[in-house]
Amino acid sequence: MSSVENIDPAAIEGAARALEAGALVAFPTETVYGLGADAENPAAVSAIYAAKGRPQDHPVIVHLAPEADIAHWACEIPPEAHALAEAFWPGPLTMILKRAPNIPDAVSGGQDTVGLRCPSHPVAIALLRAFKGGQGGVAAPSANKFGHVSPTTAQHVRDEFGADGSVALVLDGGASQVGIESTIVDLSRLATHGPVLLRPGHVSAEAIAAVIDQVPGAPDAQCDPTAPRASGTLESHYAPHTPVAMQDTATLAQTLARMLEAGRKVALIHYSDLPAAHAAERLPATPAGFAHALYAALRAMDGKGADLILVESPPQDGAWLGVNDRLRRAAHGSTGIVHGLLNRDASGM
Ligand code: TXA
Ligand code: MG
Repeated sequence: MSSVENIDPAAIEGAARALEAGALVAFPTETVYGLGADAENPAAVSAIYAAKGRPQDHPVIVHLAPEADIAHWACEIPPEAHALAEAFWPGPLTMILKRAPNIPDAVSGGQDTVGLRCPSHPVAIALLRAFKGGQGGVAAPSANKFGHVSPTTAQHVRDEFGADGSVALVLDGGASQVGIESTIVDLSRLATHGPVLLRPGHVSAEAIAAVIDQVPGAPDAQCDPTAPRASGTLESHYAPHTPVAMQDTATLAQTLARMLEAGRKVALIHYSDLPAAHAAERLPATPAGFAHALYAALRAMDGKGADLILVESPPQDGAWLGVNDRLRRAAHGSTGIVHGLLNRDASGM
């Protein structure tokens, strides 16, 4: 993570003025890079959707400075929201609350809620303080094309949008420390549904429960049409272009040998000792270390011209929930891919 000393005040001011003028600015956060626009300028928010190729009915998170007044953005704010903000902001937690009537519905895809987060990256904080004198909100999804892997460096953002001219500028704050998107907890239906964990992340359900004395429940979007919709909860998301499969260590070692025999190119993401592959990234065997490096590894392995990205399944325990959630979505739709690759002739079509 970049230090405060590294922040270039002229770059921050330039980015804040660009946002105020309605342009899109990509900026670092501690989770992933965001593609920002003035949350109170519907045309600017709609430019985010166009740049990402994202459906208009998907809500975006509004990023706030540490001093911002959440009552400007949300209404019927429960005491639990204040307690969670006190405990985890600035940091990788997004809260879904009832949207204040004055906030344009462009940020929430027409839903009556709003997602709020105060990021901890010093460049993000400096930008949020410079933008509209610290009183504005920056709507920002992850700075990637819809459904693709989220960016954790400025170069990843340039790789996503460099050619199309839709992004006015990219602030560089180094590699995002957390590496996967913020935890999202829905508090908008607290009285009837309790807190709901819409997306697992670095702030765990246990950590949330320790603050508000209630364990967040699992999303019920399938059976409740009034539940908030979150695109990060789509079955296929965070996906590279190369198919991804996850296997436990023993199965993976066998698959690797058979793929080699069949003339297939495998790019490997792993944390144990394993035989060499066409390409490989070995990640730390800890949830935080693995999460930090995961998206850069998926992008790097996606660039190796492999037939398959094979990922060594992390343990299934709670500390790995966020990582497993992202891997499952990256691998969605690749069922049968290993079988298919082993049963077709590598040299032919
Ligand atoms: O870590 C993060 O949260 C990053 C950084 C840039 O802050 N942002 C991010 O944004 O991941 P995005 O748009 O890629 O994912 C935000 C998720 C989406 O699944 C969206 O549907 C959900 O948050 N979301 C935002 N506002 C919501 C709302 N009002 N109700 C339900 N879900 C909401
Ligand atoms: Mg995203």
